Amino acid sequence: MKRYIKVLAFLFMIGLVACEYDYIAEDVIIPQPDPDDPISFSEQVEPIFQSKCIGCHDSRPPILTTGDAYDNLKNGNYINTENPADSEIYKRSTDGHGTNMSSSERLLLLTWITEGAKDN
Ligand code: HEC
Repeated sequence: MKRYIKVLAFLFMIGLVACEYDYIAEDVIIPQPDPDDPISFSEQVEPIFQSKCIGCHDSRPPILTTGDAYDNLKNGNYINTENPADSEIYKRSTDGHGTNMSSSERLLLLTWITEGAKDN
């Protein structure tokens, strides 16, 4: 009987650790738009594409080179302002298919989309 309890306790601990791990691994990003200080696409978002994405996306869709990125994202339906976190450009920014964005870069991107994805 004692042994049975020990095994149960052990399993319970594993469960706790697993839950905690899930919790930490989950990367929840909550944008906090500031109407007085909106994110600038050309000054803050485009430079991220420049450093992390155009190694490949200078020649394959979406083309993210400076000056072209905005139109290509809009016209190619990579942005969903109704549900920003569902935007293809956001979802693909850290799925490991290329160079992942850092969480602060993702926050910038998501905040910009939440603010209406303006060409600013
Ligand atoms: C090492 C090369 C490489 C890098 C770097 C890269 N990508 Fe990609 N990307 C690809 C390839 C190849 C595909 C097509 C295959 C696929 O969908 O995974 C693709 C597809 C995509 C798509 C889907 C295109 C479509 O029309 O379905 C998006 C969006 C995207 N990448 C965004 C990004 C972003 C944002 C970055 C930078 C954070 C990035 N990629 C960095 C190679 C790369």
